[in-house]
Amino acid sequence: MDIRLDGKVALVTGGSRGIGQAIAATYAECGARVVITSRKIEGLERSAEEIRSRVPGAEVVPFAAHAGDPQAARDAVALAVDTFGTLDILVNNAATNPHFGNVVGVDVPRFDKTVEVNLRGPLVWTQEAWGQAMGPDTAHPGGCVINLSSVSGLQFNDPLGVYGMTKAALIHQTKHLAGELAPAVRVNAIAPGLVKTEFARSLWEGAAPDAKYPWALERLGDPQDIANAALFLASDLASWITGEVLVVDGGAMIKGGI
Ligand SMILES: NC(=O)c1ccc[n+]([C@@H]2O[C@H](COP(=O)([O-])OP(=O)(O)OC[C@H]3O[C@@H](n4cnc5c(N)ncnc54)[C@H](OP(=O)(O)O)[C@@H]3O)[C@@H](O)[C@H]2O)c1
Repeated sequence: MDIRLDGKVALVTGGSRGIGQAIAATYAECGARVVITSRKIEGLERSAEEIRSRVPGAEVVPFAAHAGDPQAARDAVALAVDTFGTLDILVNNAATNPHFGNVVGVDVPRFDKTVEVNLRGPLVWTQEAWGQAMGPDTAHPGGCVINLSSVSGLQFNDPLGVYGMTKAALIHQTKHLAGELAPAVRVNAIAPGLVKTEFARSLWEGAAPDAKYPWALERLGDPQDIANAALFLASDLASWITGEVLVVDGGAMIKGGI
């Protein structure tokens, strides 16, 4: 069975590298037209070029937008609708982790920044998608939202407690919005384990390329492992799935941690 997204329009936040870029490229490969956002336009343009070379003819539009900025969310969703006529798939992928350390030691600015980008961001982008493109008062109601959570939102993961708290709350937000926006819009989350990206560099740097990791499938995650899950959740194969969290961690949690 071939999974296709022909005719669909997707918006992926944090699409300039890592997991977001892999998701955007995979969607483009399956026929979707894609808007990618992040803070820096240079990285986005590079990412769009890389996607076009992986997928000749891919329609990819880069747009600089801070994930925590409500006006940027409004503008990015409007750009998708103006450019491609609608928005069917929103992937809330951008996240931040300004505080590495104990929860008890976090200061207010770092706590607020983490919440602003990782939790309030996905809410505001979903509100815009619903209001402008997916809700009942729009030209083409319906669609789906995918939130990038983390296994750190499901278990203790010292020293990622504050980050993990926002990822745990994002899971509850996913479930709540899945109930509120049904049946028009499905809302699901993916909880990755350790994936080889810039974001997690300090956690995998220095390990040998063929290093075995202490989890069931023994290897580090690749951004494509997460993109494959995001493709499934966006596709019609997942048309009866909403409010769920798909853990994609190589069996780390079943072995007791990451
Ligand atoms: N890698 C892992 O091991 C892992 C594990 C579990 C969950 N996750 C989750 O997976 C998602 C993607 O992570 P990743 O590993 O792919 O990270 P990454 O490689 O560092 O990429 C992060 C992306 O988000 C953008 N970004 C960062 N802060 C932003 C902001 N404030 N506003 C807008 N864009 C912003 C970055 O571009 P700019 O710098 O241009 O803004 C970049 O495109 C995140 O939600 C992360 O929490 C990752």
